[in-house]
Amino acid sequence: TQLDLIRNFSIVAHIDHGKSTLADRLIQLTGTVAERDMKAQILDSMEIERERGITIKANTVRIDYPAKDGQTYVLNLIDTPGHVDFAYEVSRSMRAVEGSLLVVDASQGVEAQTLANVYQALDAGHEIVPVLNKIDLPAAEPERVKSQIEDVIGLDASEAVLISAKSGLGIPDVLEAIVHRLPPPKGDRDAPLKAMLVDSWYDAYLGVVVMIRVMDGVIRKGDRVKMMQTGAVYGIDRLAVLKPQMVDIAELGPGEIGVLTASIKQVRDTRVGDTITHEKKGCAAPLPGFKPAQPVVFCGLFPVDANDFEALREAIEKLALNDASFTYEMETSAALGFGFRCGFLGLLHLEVVRDRLEREYDLDLITTAPSVVYQIYMKDGTLQELHNPTDMPDLTYVDHIEEPRIRATIMVPDEYLGDVLKLCQDRRGIQLDLSYAGARAMVVYDLPLNEVVFDFYDRLKSVTKGYASFDYQITGYREDFLVKMSILVNDEPVDALSMMVHRDRADMRGRAMVEKLKELIPRHMFKIPIQAAIGGRVIARETISAMRKDVTAKCYGGDATRKRKLLDKQKAGKKKMRQFGKVEIPQQAFINALKMD
Ligand code: GTP
Repeated sequence: TQLDLIRNFSIVAHIDHGKSTLADRLIQLTGTVAERDMKAQILDSMEIERERGITIKANTVRIDYPAKDGQTYVLNLIDTPGHVDFAYEVSRSMRAVEGSLLVVDASQGVEAQTLANVYQALDAGHEIVPVLNKIDLPAAEPERVKSQIEDVIGLDASEAVLISAKSGLGIPDVLEAIVHRLPPPKGDRDAPLKAMLVDSWYDAYLGVVVMIRVMDGVIRKGDRVKMMQTGAVYGIDRLAVLKPQMVDIAELGPGEIGVLTASIKQVRDTRVGDTITHEKKGCAAPLPGFKPAQPVVFCGLFPVDANDFEALREAIEKLALNDASFTYEMETSAALGFGFRCGFLGLLHLEVVRDRLEREYDLDLITTAPSVVYQIYMKDGTLQELHNPTDMPDLTYVDHIEEPRIRATIMVPDEYLGDVLKLCQDRRGIQLDLSYAGARAMVVYDLPLNEVVFDFYDRLKSVTKGYASFDYQITGYREDFLVKMSILVNDEPVDALSMMVHRDRADMRGRAMVEKLKELIPRHMFKIPIQAAIGGRVIARETISAMRKDVTAKCYGGDATRKRKLLDKQKAGKKKMRQFGKVEIPQQAFINALKMD
């Protein structure tokens, strides 16, 4: 395809502002998918994405659009994930296109993720067309939102396209705006092949599918290509474009976006952001700015029933085929037995993976306290990365500890600002900025990531009744007074509950943890002390008093079936418990103990 007839773009938006609905409409109006095959949110193909209504993996579609000027254009839409955890994927897919539609809900206005995403688009040098969605809603205020876009982002919004993605109103104008207001790609057909690996996924029938954007040169079926970061060489079995199902194509030239298969064994062998070139006469230098996706949150996953370990291993291996950003290694815990230490891009990513393991593979799992990665500077000058509080080295050998910090942007209606500031302050935050966009305040905080991973987002939502929006990026590591807090149940340390905390907050957290555990652990036949300790020193203590409990006593008389049922029910309840020495701890306790009120 001629360069000037190609337009590559993405849609950036805050969650729920209507990105997927708009993509559906663009696909539908251009007849890319036959009407009878159309289903809502066609790009969110995974079941779990559909259920949660969030877009997890970047996805793409090629649309042929006969424009009003009589030319037929090829439009490549790359759908980017909206959530903070996938920021790296967003930034790579942004570099594969030249323009963005900035979708803003005309009844809500600019939100934290609108900002984060639009800044990435601007960083990538995009031309941006503002699109105001949901103008069918009575609460829509397009004029106000236009001036907000101008004030907060500094983009000219006077020619914003007004649409209702739901009713289809204004969609033809969006297509014309893509063609006339976004620039065509640049590239040199005669130069050596240079293509960016934008995304990859595992397909049960095809194996690993790799999505690429050609920058220079031409790629053809049968070519032998090299991945410049990994050095691996592959022969291309199949080359296709996505409409959104695969349609084979003989070659892809500069500016084009498509997929290839090449008997690549696992997604892990492909690195998002890598440069693909020909094995012979390849390009001299790779594309700039490659960095591998780094997991930032770690936690242990253990089967509730130790017999399920092999099933868990299989499930994790299968999941990992399709998700290269998730890492795992075997872990043994004194309390929980065999399991895996897993690394995730963020909390949402953790939740999605855990949910999929539980649902798609029917496993009952215990998730241990999520931990960020600490950098431990040892007195002998070496540096250790701590992924698991249990592995904390003896303090006499430690010089100092550094923890990751984030820059968090929160947008919130004025009336909740006080609560938000308090929450951030309580979490050891340092305020960097506070400004207003209409009646909404925008606060920027420097926060330790470890204060955010447990329940910050939940708390934020609850103190603001869901009206706040939140986005963050990791800024770096900083030294602080951090200690390992252990939890002892019936005098035995439960390694799965140990955590790193700031020394000044340890007493408070320790007290909160033992109080929570007291509620979460059922009474036993004996007294159970629960303690929080730093090193050998106990900082908080609660006791669960003993109880004699004969569950069948209530079923007076000889109703055997009723007794049976009660016992069965108790047994089913037990499945969700784990034995620690003489004490049974319910599965839920591991997560709930960490939530702070
Ligand atoms: P994520 O995929 O989660 O990032 O969300 P999204 O931005 O793709 O939003 P989505 O398209 O899923 O739309 C969110 C909600 O807004 C859905 O319930 C849509 O039906 C609704 N919606 C989208 N466009 C319109 C519109 O023009 N008018 C109205 N009234 N509702 C809309």
